[in-house]
Amino acid sequence: MLLLLQLLLSFTVDGQAERVVGQKNNGSCVCEIKSSMWLFPTVKYEAVLQQVQSCEDSLNKLQEQVTLSSERLPQMQAVVKNITARLEPFRYLQHQGLYSALSLRLLGQELSELEADVSIVQSQLNNAQTQKISKEVVKLRRDVDRMQTSNTINMKTVKEKLRYLKNGVQSCKSIPEDFRGQGRYCLKGLITNISEPVVTKVAPNGKNYISGSWGKQAQEDSQGQKSSYWVQVLFSSNILGNTLRVYQTYEDFMASTNHRDFTFASSYTDANAIEGPSAVLYGEALYYHCYRSADVCRYDLNTNTVKRVTLPGTGVGFNNKFPYCYYDCRPNSDVDVEADETGLWAIYATVGNHGNLVVSQFVWDNEAQTLNITKTWETRLFKRAVSNAFMVCGVLYATRYVDEIHEEVFYAFDTATGKEDTSLALPLEKIAKGLASLNYNPTNKQIYMYNDGYLLAYQAHF
Ligand SMILES: *[C@@H]1O[C@H](CO)[C@@H](O)[C@H](O)[C@H]1NC(C)=O
Ligand SMILES: *[C@@H]1O[C@H](CO)[C@@H](O)[C@H](O)[C@H]1NC(C)=O
Ligand SMILES: *[C@@H]1O[C@H](CO)[C@@H](O)[C@H](O)[C@H]1NC(C)=O
Ligand SMILES: *[C@@H]1O[C@H](CO)[C@@H](O)[C@H](O)[C@H]1NC(C)=O
Repeated sequence: MLLLLQLLLSFTVDGQAERVVGQKNNGSCVCEIKSSMWLFPTVKYEAVLQQVQSCEDSLNKLQEQVTLSSERLPQMQAVVKNITARLEPFRYLQHQGLYSALSLRLLGQELSELEADVSIVQSQLNNAQTQKISKEVVKLRRDVDRMQTSNTINMKTVKEKLRYLKNGVQSCKSIPEDFRGQGRYCLKGLITNISEPVVTKVAPNGKNYISGSWGKQAQEDSQGQKSSYWVQVLFSSNILGNTLRVYQTYEDFMASTNHRDFTFASSYTDANAIEGPSAVLYGEALYYHCYRSADVCRYDLNTNTVKRVTLPGTGVGFNNKFPYCYYDCRPNSDVDVEADETGLWAIYATVGNHGNLVVSQFVWDNEAQTLNITKTWETRLFKRAVSNAFMVCGVLYATRYVDEIHEEVFYAFDTATGKEDTSLALPLEKIAKGLASLNYNPTNKQIYMYNDGYLLAYQAHF
């Protein structure tokens, strides 16, 4: 419309009368004029007419488009809504680099703990190193306090600094050398950092199946299941199960193709069924907590047979007596089976140890065809106060809930020395709130998490 108006206006301006200056000549006034001025400007008129015509055309087109979009708009909005809904679980990604007031508060708490630690260390050992750490902690406190009012300082940098300082304080605490898990297999010490998720996938039966365990073949020299990936999903109110899904390769696992299902018990309530998110695939067998018992089971993928052994201890917890809790309890997560560089482990709790974590090592004796418990350790960590646990190099690591998108490794217990470390702060990012299981894989040093309906993997660094 605007265009049309402008065109008409310019036409009017062009057609205005022209002023001509006359001259006195031979007693009369003579004016010179251009005769073309008096002609009707047909050419111009036609050009404008044409413009008007095409303008009308485009107006019509525009009208059509408006009609179309008013119909399509709700459809497009629905698509946007759909995508938003599907992206919802990945909202943790948005949190990378954007930090909430909550994480700032948590940081403040961590710093308070560090300040307490530093003053203890300094009262025992006042040297250049502890003085330097102390000075840096004071500086960090200033930064954090400043952040609480403005939001100008990069929280990531502060967090890294905090972790670095923590490690400094840790080494000042003079931990015995042998705490570092330096055994025959493990010369690398404690985990120093855990990566962001390197694998994220929805559980095979859909994300309503919020409990189970998954991972990669954990035995280095397994013949038949060399690089298998496996998922053990729990049914029956997310508590029981009797099937195992195995993919021969990582590619198959990621594409959800070429799986093979094994049925290791005739029903969910069979004595050989699995109870709780507890399994691990080690060699050509699945090891797990057997239904309503204090036993660990071994299902042989080749022979289809199940063998079992009873865990040692007075009043071994099962059937939801000592589940992992911390924030929300994970139903029936009483007995957790794990593998590491040194072999197979069961993590559980007993009445005899006041509900605190107990860890037993066991082996499969292929000649005798028996499962044998080899050694047991009792810790002072209450099982219901941790969200999950796993083993690395004979060291038990326990996690706690931080917020909906973060978990944290906060505790380590070294079975080689019986020493514990409660000052760890290794963050683990997650997609959903609930943690069903965690297990470490010694072949690639990855940690596998069954995170409600999602399967996540992380790289551990030492
Ligand atoms: C002026 O007018 C006279 C007659 O009225 C004519 O004869 C003459 O040629 C004119 N001169 C010019 C320069 O037009
Ligand atoms: C989104 O769309 C897909 C396919 O177009 C459909 O399977 C899914 O159920 C939809 N999700 C939601 C939350 O609407
Ligand atoms: C630790 O891991 C985080 C990601 O989880 C990464 O951003 C950071 O750079 C790592 N730090 C070190 C010291 O490796
Ligand atoms: C396991 O236990 C069985 C029966 O108690 C015994 O014969 C066998 O030697 C044990 N094996 C190992 C490796 O301890």
